Amino acid sequence: MSYIPASNSRFAGKKIHIHDVAMRDGLQIEPIFVPTEQKIEMVNALSRTGLKKIEVTSFTSPKAIPALRDAEELMKAIDRVTGVTYVALIPNMKGAERALSCAVDELNLVLSASETHNLANTRMTREQSKRIHAEIIKAAKGKAAVNISISTAFGCPMEGDVPANDVLALGDWFVEQGATGITLCDTTGMANPGQVEQICEGLIDRWRDIELTLHFHNTRAMGLANALAGLNCGITRFDAALGGLGGCPYAPGATGNVCTEDLVHMFETMGCDTGVDLDALIACSLRLPEMVGHDCPGQVAKAGKSDRRYPAPADLEEIRSRAQARDLADSAA
Ligand code: COA
Ligand code: ZN
Repeated sequence: MSYIPASNSRFAGKKIHIHDVAMRDGLQIEPIFVPTEQKIEMVNALSRTGLKKIEVTSFTSPKAIPALRDAEELMKAIDRVTGVTYVALIPNMKGAERALSCAVDELNLVLSASETHNLANTRMTREQSKRIHAEIIKAAKGKAAVNISISTAFGCPMEGDVPANDVLALGDWFVEQGATGITLCDTTGMANPGQVEQICEGLIDRWRDIELTLHFHNTRAMGLANALAGLNCGITRFDAALGGLGGCPYAPGATGNVCTEDLVHMFETMGCDTGVDLDALIACSLRLPEMVGHDCPGQVAKAGKSDRRYPAPADLEEIRSRAQARDLADSAA
């Protein structure tokens, strides 16, 4: 898709990596259980859209997240398309063992920057999560990549402000432990673009040897603006959820992630190169309402891409004639 001459944009050709998390972050908050067969079909369709990573599920307690209780069955049944990294979210060692037994490419270990959310979400203190995650990094060496998702990195819905230095220190610690990636997560859409720039400026250099990803929720309609702020700091990896589904069931007020097709559309119209086939992605998104039983918040799937064109009014020539007649009448007067 090319909307503007590439040479006119300072973002021209900029490679962006899009990770879709709808099957995990999206489905974990849905009240219904989507049949495994439908999940398999969706992951397989998403695998063929050019996405770099797909977060397929989570290996959490089925009591905590019943919607994803079929993690093993799903992971083992999906097609593994070359070039796509298949990810699962993991809260503890039991989850890591389950995921490794399914040959997950990347373990996405979760902990929160805020103590209150970490306790609510994983029933562990941050120190306990850190200790367990360090053990998982060791256990996964040579078997799977290990990304650390730091939740509530831009604010906690229960505690409020989260000191940026705490978030950065947490990230530093995991980089030292051997994590291959860090994701800063705005769990309930509290971030704003100014704050994102403050936290993310220089991060690419600070964590040079790892993959750095941003994960925004669109709870207060700042998701795309926050992603752009991240790009302005040189960050080129973004999580997003098809249709704008998503939310943490243990974070009060949580709503959907920034929508994958809206994010891809924004970047592509700016001249960036996401490598994603947007039409194929939109086709996947249009299947979601039937899957989850409700409308989705994403906008581009409804509005169409910005190169969509509508017919002019049927009486345009009549309107034109009347307008021109006005000129003639004026000049005669
Ligand atoms: N997968 C499956 N079962 C698990 C598990 C895992 N990763 N971790 C623990 N369990 C089981 C235990 O085997 C035990 O089962 P039992 O009652 O049959 O003996 C039971 O869950 C309780 O184990 P415990 O270690 O005490 O866990 P907990 O009740 O303190 O819950 C978590 C801790 C982390 C497992 C749970 O809070 C959780 O899964 N949280 C995930 C939250 C999440 O995904 N949020 C959204 C993403 S941000
Ligand atoms: Zn999230």
